[in-house]
Amino acid sequence: MKAIVVTDRAAGTAGMRLVERPDPDTARLASLEGANYGDVVVEVHASGFTGDELDWPSTWVDRLGRDRTPTIPGHEVAGVVTALSYGAAGLSVGQRVFGLTDWTRDGTLAEYTVVEARNLAPLPGDVDFTVGAGVAMTGLTAWQGLFEHGHLLAGQSVLVHGAAGGVGSMAAQLAREAGAYVIGTGRAAHRQTALDFGVQEFVDLGNDTLEDIGGVDLVFDVFGGDIGRRSAGLVRAGGKLVSVAGPPEAQPKGGLALDFVVVSDRAQLGEIAQRVRHGQLRTHIGQVASLNDAVAALNPAEPISGKTVIRVRP
Ligand SMILES: NC(=O)c1ccc[n+]([C@@H]2O[C@H](COP(=O)([O-])OP(=O)(O)OC[C@H]3O[C@@H](n4cnc5c(N)ncnc54)[C@H](OP(=O)(O)O)[C@@H]3O)[C@@H](O)[C@H]2O)c1
Repeated sequence: MKAIVVTDRAAGTAGMRLVERPDPDTARLASLEGANYGDVVVEVHASGFTGDELDWPSTWVDRLGRDRTPTIPGHEVAGVVTALSYGAAGLSVGQRVFGLTDWTRDGTLAEYTVVEARNLAPLPGDVDFTVGAGVAMTGLTAWQGLFEHGHLLAGQSVLVHGAAGGVGSMAAQLAREAGAYVIGTGRAAHRQTALDFGVQEFVDLGNDTLEDIGGVDLVFDVFGGDIGRRSAGLVRAGGKLVSVAGPPEAQPKGGLALDFVVVSDRAQLGEIAQRVRHGQLRTHIGQVASLNDAVAALNPAEPISGKTVIRVRP
């Protein structure tokens, strides 16, 4: 099969190469000989890549911490199940699926990927593969940050950093739907995009003063650093700062700060798929490219606004 691989952490996305790799061994998968109970093979139709994935330690090692280069990156997938192992519950061969693959295994910038069935959900027939791949990581991260970790309730206020970006645009839409008051942040050029995704106020981090918004019940932080530290001071007593940018460096007075790494969840993927079908949730996809053009697409000469999705099969 064709796949994108990386071998050199220091090279970043510039080190990506399109190569031939062996197809997944479906006979072994079905034979119970491997330690792969619960895995399925997915024929990849669309793959998503998160911009800083090559900085994640899990990109370079397996679960035991051993070097696993050459690594196939990309952890968002939409495709069709082609083989099942023992214990692969709830899916069938030929089924359209989407979800996230394991951080410490080969990913989805390839014609096939192997993933645990529990990390996938059915993709409704009227949701395009490109959209399925574009919404898995961003949608799950937003959902878990707002509801599982942030316990957001109707009537509360939430500050969503990077509200025009992949995760932030999902968080803004879901928070609005949940009945929250949503303040988004970003660069000056992001204002209209963030408003279009549902934020009710926008803070241009280059020109406005973040502290002018007063207190909020929840901060959803995708930046960390100085913005993360200052944001902790905006959390009301009893509120939370939830970060996807690593451990928070400051604690809110009378509130909590925590970070998390997204996990794939079939039920939550189902909730996201339903909202996409009914037009309640829009993905921010900036460009779509083929697998042959993926290395160039993931090394753009100019910054791309929105997510890049690689359409592995037309
Ligand atoms: N922990 C987890 O489970 C998890 C899951 C998913 C994502 N993440 C992390 O979350 C972060 C965001 O991911 P994403 O997919 O949403 O990225 P993204 O699509 O690039 O969104 C980030 C947004 O923030 C903006 N931005 C960046 N730096 C800024 C600054 N200094 N001032 C104002 N705006 C700024 C970006 O604008 P420009 O495009 O103009 O820079 C973009 O609109 C990444 O670091 C990613 O690794 C973590």
